[in-house]
Parts: sequence; C-alpha cells; structure tokens
Amino acid sequence: QQLKMNLEQIEKGGYDHFMLKEIHEQPRAITDTLRGRLLVDEAIIKLSGLENNMKRFLNAERIIIVACGTSWHAGLVGEYIFEDFVRIPVEVEYASEFRYRNPVITERDVVIAISQSGETADTLAAIKLARSKGAFVFGICNVVGSSITRENDSGAYTHAGPEIGVASTKAFTTQITVLLMMALRLARAKGTMSSADYRMNLQELQLIPSKMEQLLSIDENIKEIAREYMLSTNCLYLGRGYNFPVALEGALKLKEISYIHAEGYPAAEMKHGPIALIDDRMPVIVIATSKGHYEKVVSNIQEIKSRKGKIIAIVTEGDTTVKDIADHTIEIPEVSEAFTPLLTTIPLQLLSYHIAVMRNCNVDQPRNLAKSVTVE
Ligand code: G6P
Repeated sequence: QQLKMNLEQIEKGGYDHFMLKEIHEQPRAITDTLRGRLLVDEAIIKLSGLENNMKRFLNAERIIIVACGTSWHAGLVGEYIFEDFVRIPVEVEYASEFRYRNPVITERDVVIAISQSGETADTLAAIKLARSKGAFVFGICNVVGSSITRENDSGAYTHAGPEIGVASTKAFTTQITVLLMMALRLARAKGTMSSADYRMNLQELQLIPSKMEQLLSIDENIKEIAREYMLSTNCLYLGRGYNFPVALEGALKLKEISYIHAEGYPAAEMKHGPIALIDDRMPVIVIATSKGHYEKVVSNIQEIKSRKGKIIAIVTEGDTTVKDIADHTIEIPEVSEAFTPLLTTIPLQLLSYHIAVMRNCNVDQPRNLAKSVTVE
C-alpha cells in the first residue's frame, strides 16, 4: 500500500493531482506535438499522414469533424480554423448523433475523427460508418496504437503523453495544435493564405509554448478568484468566435470536477436566454481578448454588470477597458486570434481545478465519469 502511494506520488511529479501536473505540462506537450513537424526556418509543416493524402484533402468538398466531449470542443475550434485558413466548409458532429442520423456522406468528404484515448465507442462507430460510405477518414489521437488509429485511413498523433486525469487538459490543446498545423499546411497548398501570413503564423505557433509557460505563472492569482467563487451553485461562460468553443470547454471542466452547474454560451446569444439567470450571485466568465469582436463582447460585459453579475474576464495583457468594468481580470499574452484558444483555455482549466480542490472533490476521478467511454 505504502509502495503504491509512493509510486503515485512520483508519477504526479510533485503535483497534488494528475490534472494539475497535466495542466502544467502543456508547454512541453505542445513542444512535443510540434517537434519535427513545424520547421519555421524552412517555412515547412511536415505531417506525413497529411502529405501522403494531399489529393484527398485538396479535392474535399467539405470536412466533417466527429468527436465526443472535450475532443468535440477541439473540433469546434477546428471549424473556425479550417474555414478561416483553408476556406473549406466544415461541420462538427457529436459522434453519437452522426452515427445514428443517416447522415449524407460521399467520397468527396473528408472526415476528421478526434479522440484522446482512441477508444471512444461512438467515435469508432462514426468512423466505420463514414468509411463504409467512401469518405476518407483522418484520425487525431493521443494513444498510440489505439483502436481508432487502426480504423482510420490516415492520421496524426498529438504526442501529448499519457493523460491520467479524467478531465482532459493537455489533450485538448495538443489536438488544437495538430488542427492548426493541418490547416496551415493545407492553406499553403490551396493558396488561401499569403506566404507572408503563412510565415507569420508559423512563427506565432512556435512561440505558443513559451507564452503558455508565462501564463501558467499566474496560478496564485487564479487561486484567489477560486476562493471567492468556490461556493457558487451556477456559473456562466461566454465567448465569441474562436473562443466560443473555449467557453463550452471551460464550463465542461467546471461541472466535471467541481459539480457546479455551468453553461457555456456564445456571448451574443446571452440575450436569448441566459441573461435571465444573471443576478448578484452569478459568476460570469467572459473571454474578451483584444482580437475578434472585442467591442461587442465589451458591451455584453456591460449588460452583465448592469444586472449585478460578477464578472471574471480573460483579457489580453495591457487591456484597460474591461479591467475598469470587470470584478476580476486574467491577462493572456498577445497572440493573433486563431491562436487564442491555446491560451484562454489555461486559466479556465486552473480555475476549475482550484475550485474543485477547495470543494474537496476528487479531481482526478470525478464521480460517474470515465476516462474513456468504450460502451454506448
Ligand atoms: C470521456 C472523458 C472526456 C473525453 C471524452 C472523449 O467523456 O471523460 O474527458 O473528452 O470521453 O474521449 P476521447 O478519448 O474520445 O477524446
């Protein structure tokens, strides 16, 4: 027993929980995802699974992304990235809905299946269905040799390393990193991005791990915010554009591990429902980075304020407008819009983690949840 405990302690690398270790591992994990694939000096992205099937991607009439849970949120970020960079229409589907809906699939479709474990039953079934209709299936998985990697036509690993905490963290950010690399490579091949923009984006991508590292150092600040809201019963997460899926993921993290009811919403949809919930006991986490619809999000923040909601805002460093209105602000380093999800996610992971610890929840193994869902 003692030996088992010591072993676990070592595995946690000095952290109290696997989840915290995995949150802090993200700069390293992303460096591993990029290793040998992002070659900034040569202005090259090398993903053999993509390169060997370039024709299928270039001829694709649309891309369908299938996944579950956190991986589905990464897929939603992928939709923004691919449509923006590659100008291919993208649909993102819950694998469980896709497989039972009699979906329209043709040989001109490319399906991207995203799964950390590579074992999720619904995602696996969605892949089999898509392939039976002639679609080309590309998998983005973390676990090497998993079932999904064997069912795909091709794919790319995330190389995040083992993820033990049930709530997914580094898997999410490395999945987005792979999607970014794929979209950048395809944008060059399709000519939908200028060579100057392409080079600039490669440089931005390379700087992400160090920016993440910088961001992770604000942990103490987030702990203080967590202390103030640990007894909340409801929580709202808002974001727009690239950060709408991040709002969904932030809410999922909180409910998974702290059992606080949380909802993620596109900021502009707030007025069609959630605004009715806002009172002085309602924390609202708003992603309000300087790129992308900033003024619109600021006006959403003002609406929350006038209803006495408590505002925790994720802003770009140097922001003053939101700082004046919000109850708390968390700053992220400056980065162009498509890359913001990789940074805005981090404070939301930390906030959920600290709240869950303060509520004495079992962070690494939340009740009723499994790391991989291999049954329907
Ligand atoms: C479970 C896990 C989630 C995960 C989802 C999809 O619900 O608890 O963290 O996001 O399955 O798993 P996958 O391995 O396919 O990414």
